[in-house]
Amino acid sequence: MAAKHFLSLLDLTSEELNNLIQRAIELKAELRAGKHNSHLKNKVLGMIFEKSSTRTRVSFEAGMAQMGGHSLFLASRDTQLGRGEPIEDSARVLSSMVDIIMIRTYGHEIIERFAQYSKVPVINALTDEFHPCQLLADIQTYVEQRGSIQGKTVCWVGDGNNMCQSYINAARQFDFELRIACPEGFEPDEELVKANSGRVFITQNPSEAAKDVDLLVTDVWASMGQEEQQAERIKQFAGYQLNQELLSKAASDALYMHCLPAHRGEEISAELMDSPDTVIWEEAENRLHAQKALMEYLLQVSS
Ligand code: CP
Ligand code: NVA
Repeated sequence: MAAKHFLSLLDLTSEELNNLIQRAIELKAELRAGKHNSHLKNKVLGMIFEKSSTRTRVSFEAGMAQMGGHSLFLASRDTQLGRGEPIEDSARVLSSMVDIIMIRTYGHEIIERFAQYSKVPVINALTDEFHPCQLLADIQTYVEQRGSIQGKTVCWVGDGNNMCQSYINAARQFDFELRIACPEGFEPDEELVKANSGRVFITQNPSEAAKDVDLLVTDVWASMGQEEQQAERIKQFAGYQLNQELLSKAASDALYMHCLPAHRGEEISAELMDSPDTVIWEEAENRLHAQKALMEYLLQVSS
């Protein structure tokens, strides 16, 4: 059977994604009850990182350990990949030794090429274009707090980046409306927006986009690889902060999320980050549970 990859949310059906969310909720409850399982016993996860990470690395490693498997942290600069060994060769070799691979890299085409030559499932742990694992955690968090996200309205405020583009895919797969408020010139990919017209709307007015929504989401103004643009972007994104004033435009029971790491006082106010009833920490924890469900599923359908 061919390996099942998870390069974007579109690689699984809506039904598969919803099942994963339910399984993640179940695994979370089991872990909290002190129950471990050995569903990934003797399985080895290869983790290739070309960019920094805290949550992604720890959640994948901890998740593998909790299910009886092992993980290998491979910083590209310490491997031959960092010295120019072709992606295709690396994929052939690594996938002959490990059972599943996750990659955090720059261009999405890198992970597509890797997956094409991999005999085992490949998971996108963030590219410049998408961050689908984070969406599993975000949707899990919404479902736990408020029930199904189907038919709800979500507002993205800030950069039209990898997280924003993953929200566009999520709007399609989980069937919700997405309003994106971003400054001119920072819109998500035009083709992606066009392919989802009817449920994805773009505006430059955050207050208008946030009106009566069920969920508000933001992310850093300068993503990894854009560090030199940071100072300029702070000026360009002024007025696009997720704060109490913006939250007051949303529905009275609206949630707000941030994938982290956050820059307090830039894309999100310190007040919202430090609010006692924020779900942001739950959202971060859910990376662990959602990815355990994902690895279990990909290995199950690929073997
Ligand atoms: N949200 C997220 O992916 O965090 P890390 O960069 O710490 O992995
Ligand atoms: N948009 C951010 C997400 C970090 C998890 C980045 O790519 O740096």
